[in-house]
Amino acid sequence: MRQYVRGLAEVGARVFGVGDTPPQALPQDSQHYLSGYLQVPRIMDEDDVITRVSAWLRGREMDRVLTNWEPLVILAARLRERWGVPGMTADTALGFRDKALMKQRVEAAGLRVPRSARAQSASEVRAAAEEIGYPLVVKPISGAGSADTFRVEDAAELEAVLGRVRHVPEVSVEEYIEGEERTYDTICIGGKPVYENVAHYLPKPIEARNKQWISPVIITVRDLDQPEIRRGIELGRGVLEALGMDDGFTHMEWFSTPSGEAVFGEVGARPGGACIVPQMNYTSDIDLFREWARAVCWGAFEADTTRHYNCGITFKRAQGEGRIQRITGLDAFRQRCGRWLVEDALLPVGAARRDWTQTLLSDGHLMIRHPDWEEAKRLSFAAATDVKLYAG
Ligand SMILES: Nc1ncnc2c1ncn2[C@@H]1O[C@H](COP(=O)(O)OP(=O)(O)OP(=O)(O)O)[C@@H](O)[C@H]1O
Ligand SMILES: [Mg+2]
Repeated sequence: MRQYVRGLAEVGARVFGVGDTPPQALPQDSQHYLSGYLQVPRIMDEDDVITRVSAWLRGREMDRVLTNWEPLVILAARLRERWGVPGMTADTALGFRDKALMKQRVEAAGLRVPRSARAQSASEVRAAAEEIGYPLVVKPISGAGSADTFRVEDAAELEAVLGRVRHVPEVSVEEYIEGEERTYDTICIGGKPVYENVAHYLPKPIEARNKQWISPVIITVRDLDQPEIRRGIELGRGVLEALGMDDGFTHMEWFSTPSGEAVFGEVGARPGGACIVPQMNYTSDIDLFREWARAVCWGAFEADTTRHYNCGITFKRAQGEGRIQRITGLDAFRQRCGRWLVEDALLPVGAARRDWTQTLLSDGHLMIRHPDWEEAKRLSFAAATDVKLYAG
């Protein structure tokens, strides 16, 4: 988020920030790039934020209202509508936020989505499961970070899962799509992608999220001109059209099934999380933080999007609880990678472990890039298996 503020300032915008962080706790560089900042007590309370921000900005003209954080896309759209600022409306934003509405709109455009139903009670979930069949997925209607997301094999398992999602007000019950999972990322101007990216998840987030021993890997694909990838890109373009995208980042997830079909997963009107924007930057040696800002402020995109590398990130999870005590295999890994290692952001010895169930960042990451896909995959997997962190 700091980088986007920097990007906006660099293309000539005066940036006024709103957040729940106390101003003195903002990072130094953000303070430098902000022309003003309002701290609000409850950033998730849309009505309250709208009242406070409107009072704060009274008498000043705003040209854009922007957010790159999923939980705030509706709030930003409501502010735009209230002030008559160009950009996505709240109804359009809802199509990128509400997973049932999203699938309805995408399906209405003739695109392949998982069969699904929304449910607010245990009996509605059971009825939906009956209708859809097993295996299926139960997940929040407006979720993020794979929280409260479960694969369910049969009716007995469904009963157990019902207990675990009781606190979720509304869930989506979906046909489970077998196959590999990929992203489709864009920056759009007027709904048309001026930048496109595809990355592989290894393994699927739902698996990476449920097994601590896994070191999740994500690799951007250098060569987008492969039939399987093209199908995902075509699907993605159709999705953006169906949902009425306008300016900014999008992050879609899709499945590539064993039969070669591309099936829609979900999409957000914001960049992907974790480090996917830096990975895209390393893929082409560009600065998408700034190019995004140029796109949303000036309707222009100037970076050369030639793809030189496949960029892989491997998130690590230490064995044991508490503080990192020891890291093994790192020197050998560094030697093996040489100049292809672009980031070593493992937590240092002495640091407290992060909660891997709450953040994909886990206990840090290693990032590599390589012009050859197979070598990029080998290096990313070597980071997964040969580098180990121990906590105690
Ligand atoms: N219909 C489905 N079939 C197969 N797998 C699914 C399905 N729906 C969700 N999943 C799995 O669950 C994961 C999380 O679901 P989804 O992406 O909808 O939720 P999320 O919480 O918004 O995710 P995140 O913020 O991590 O991207 C997906 O990445 C995928 O691995
Ligand atoms: Mg997702």
